[in-house]
Amino acid sequence: MTEHKHQMTNTHILLQEFEYREPTSLEEATALLKAYGDRAHVLAGGTFLLIQMKMERLAPECVININNVPALNGIVPIEGDGLRIGALTTIRALRNAPQVQAGYTALAEACAAFGSAQIQIMGTVGGNLCNGSPASDTVPALMALDAQLLLAGPEGQRVVPLEEFLVGPGQVARREGELLVGLELAAPQPGTGSAFIKLSRVAADLAKVSVAAVLVREGEHIVDCRLSFGSVGPTVLRTRQAERQLVGQTFSAELALAAGETAASEVTPIDDVRSTAWYRRQVVKALTHDVLQMAWERAGRAPDAAAVRQAHHGMVRQAHHGAVQPASQAVDAGELPAQHHGDGLRLGPTEQHLITLTVNGVTHKLHVASNELLLNVLRERLGLTGTKYGCGLGECGACTVHLNGHPALSCLVLAVAADGSEVLTVEGLSGPHGELDPLQEAFIEQNAFQCGYCTPGMLMMTKSLLAEVPAPTEDDVRDYLKGNRCRCTGFISIVRAVMRCVE
Ligand SMILES: Cc1cc2nc3c(=O)[nH]c(=O)nc-3n(C[C@H](O)[C@H](O)[C@H](O)COP(=O)(O)OP(=O)(O)OC[C@H]3O[C@@H](n4cnc5c(N)ncnc54)[C@H](O)[C@@H]3O)c2cc1C
Ligand code: FES
Ligand code: FES
Repeated sequence: MTEHKHQMTNTHILLQEFEYREPTSLEEATALLKAYGDRAHVLAGGTFLLIQMKMERLAPECVININNVPALNGIVPIEGDGLRIGALTTIRALRNAPQVQAGYTALAEACAAFGSAQIQIMGTVGGNLCNGSPASDTVPALMALDAQLLLAGPEGQRVVPLEEFLVGPGQVARREGELLVGLELAAPQPGTGSAFIKLSRVAADLAKVSVAAVLVREGEHIVDCRLSFGSVGPTVLRTRQAERQLVGQTFSAELALAAGETAASEVTPIDDVRSTAWYRRQVVKALTHDVLQMAWERAGRAPDAAAVRQAHHGMVRQAHHGAVQPASQAVDAGELPAQHHGDGLRLGPTEQHLITLTVNGVTHKLHVASNELLLNVLRERLGLTGTKYGCGLGECGACTVHLNGHPALSCLVLAVAADGSEVLTVEGLSGPHGELDPLQEAFIEQNAFQCGYCTPGMLMMTKSLLAEVPAPTEDDVRDYLKGNRCRCTGFISIVRAVMRCVE
C-alpha cells in the first residue's frame, strides 16, 4: 500500500485508481479479503475510508463495498433479551432504536453526540469499530456494555470481546480475510444505569475526551461498575482501579470525585491538535464524577425488564433511519442465512461501468470509473451545479443531496456504488413550473443567506429534517444542521427561516 504518494491532496476528486468489488455474499467478501490481504479495504459508509484515500494516507489496490452482502444490517433481540447489532447498522439507526434507548442509554447518547447528522446517517457501527480510532464515539459505550464482536472469515465465525479487538491506534485484531459481521450486547441486569459524555471543541468534532459508565445499583450500593474512556490513550480503555474503588461502596459525590482522581492517574493522554494531555486529565476527573452521577440516578429508576422487552419486540428501526421494520422481518446478523458464492461486480482500475441514476425524476445512464464521486457526476457531467463543493472531506455539508430519500454527502459517495439510486438535488426542490419550495420561500423571506454557497446543503438538510420531525424545536434544527457550515450569514436567520416554514 502506497502512502503519501504525491505529498499533496486535492479533495475535490479521488485521485487514486483502484479495483472496485461488490460481493453479494459473505463467502465472496471473505474470499476477496483473504486474496487481497492488506492490499484491500472494506467500504461500509465510506466516511472514514474515502477521507483517508483523499488525503493519500491510504491507497488500497482494491475497495470492497460490503453494502450488498446480505445479513449485515439491523438490530434484533437475541436469547436472554440481549441485542444483536449488524455491522452495517448506521449510527443514526442506533441512536433512534427504541430498544437501544430503553436498555443501553450510554450507546444511544454516544450516537447522538456523534459527528453531524449526515455522518450519523452514512457512518456505520462496524466502520466505527474497525477504524481502530481511540476517538471512536461508540467504542467507550460498547466497551462499558461489554460488547462481544462477531467476526466471519474463510475459516468460520468467532466471537471476540471488544477489549481484545483493540490493539493500538488504527489497529484492530481482525485476521486476514475476516469481516466484522456484528456485535452482541447482553440484557442489562436489574438496577443497571448507563451514561456517556463527550467533550469536543465544537459539536460536530471528534472527542477531546469521552467517557461511558455502566453501573449496577442495589439500594444505596454499587454492586458492579465499568468505566471506559476515549481519546486519552492509544485505544479506548477501561480504568480498572477506579472501577474497583467504586464496587461495594455506598454512592456519594465524594466517592465519584475520588474515582475521577484515580481514573485520571490511569489514562495515558497525549498533546495533539484537539487538546493537551494536562487538560485531558483534568477533564477525566470532572467527567468521571458527572457520568457516574448520571448512571447512578438512572440505575435508581432503571426501566423494568418488561419495558425493554416491549421495545425489543416492537418495531426495529433499520439502518437507513426512518425506515421501520417489524422485528420479525429484521435481518439477523449472527445466524446468517444460507449464503451462496456470489458473483458481484468487478470493476478494474482503468475500466468504466454503466450505471443508472434517477436524478430529480430524470433517469440517466452513465459510464463511470471506480474513483468517480457522485458530487462530480452531478456537477460536471449532469450540469447540476446547485450541489456545491466545499471541503471535500465531509465537514461542511455544502455537497448534501438526498440519496434514496436520505441525506448524503456526495463528496463521499462513489458514483459506482450509487448505481440504481434515486438522487434529489436542490434543483429538484422546485415545482414543475419553477415554483419554489416553501422552505426556499422562507429562506428568501428571512434573508437566510448572503453568498448562498451553503444554501443548497442547508435546504437539503432542513427538507429532510421536516420529513423526519414535522414540528422541530430550534434545538432540533441546530442539531440537525451541525454538519453544515455557513461562512457569512450565521445560523440565526437560517434557524428562523426553518421555524417560519414550520409555522
Ligand atoms: C466530518 C466527520 C466527522 C466525524 N465525526 C465523528 C465522531 O464524532 N465520532 C466518531 O467516532 N467518528 C467520527 N467520524 C469518523 C467516521 O465517520 C466514523 O468512524 C464512522 O463510524 C465510520 O463508519 P463508516 O461506515 O463510514 O466506515 P468506512 O469508512 O466505510 O470504514 C472505516 C474502516 O473500517 C473498515 N470496515 C468498515 N466496516 C467493516 C467491517 N464490517 N468489517 C471489517 N472492516 C470494516 C474499513 O475498511 C475502513 O478501514 C467522523 C468523520 C467525518 C468525515
Ligand atoms: S464538500 Fe462534502 S462535506 Fe464539504
Ligand atoms: S450564505 Fe455564504 S456561506 Fe452561507
